Amino acid sequence: MPTDNSTPSQLNDLASILLSEAQINTRLKELGAEINSAYAGREIAVIAIINGAVIFVADIIRQLNIPLRLDCIRVSSYHDSASPQQAPEIIDRIRLNIEGFDVLLMDDILDTGNTLAAVSKVLRSMNPASLKTCVLLDKKTHRAVEFEADYAGFPIDDHFVVGYGLDYDGYFRIFYHDPGFEIVPAPH
Ligand code: IMP
Ligand code: MG
Repeated sequence: MPTDNSTPSQLNDLASILLSEAQINTRLKELGAEINSAYAGREIAVIAIINGAVIFVADIIRQLNIPLRLDCIRVSSYHDSASPQQAPEIIDRIRLNIEGFDVLLMDDILDTGNTLAAVSKVLRSMNPASLKTCVLLDKKTHRAVEFEADYAGFPIDDHFVVGYGLDYDGYFRIFYHDPGFEIVPAPH
């Protein structure tokens, strides 16, 4: 993870690809089409959970043909490591007024569910007309709280994954040879 003597570049060399750029691009188009038809004739407020969701959100909003506004919320749930803490901390709130608007909350990955559950609660308190969630990855077997996303790109097993915006300790958000995901060994 990287273990004692492995460097980011060594880890990059060792990693195996879970989802390729082509698989991700195909799924992005499908998800975009689903969202376009669900919100046809309306406008949405997209709220991205940063930093992890930046690449996913940048790509998916370019598949949309509905008017949208974008804002980001910064949440720290991993505190610069791969071990989740119980209560995610909202470090930076949104500035957009979402009262009465249809909100689509996006994150890179739904794991224990703590992050999306906590952020959803905060957004609901701002009285949106509706609130839906969209994630690229869903570790369905690792929930600590009951939470299902309205739109999910790929169900994955309980591996720690990096790439396409997902990091380990700030590293590996992007791989230059292929912007797909890569599995790295779980921390021990
Ligand atoms: P949850 O609160 O456990 O659902 O975790 C969601 C957050 O944890 C996401 O916003 C990610 O930032 C991070 N996360 C969960 N699993 C992974 C992973 O496999 N790789 C990188 N980040 C992850
Ligand atoms: Mg995150």
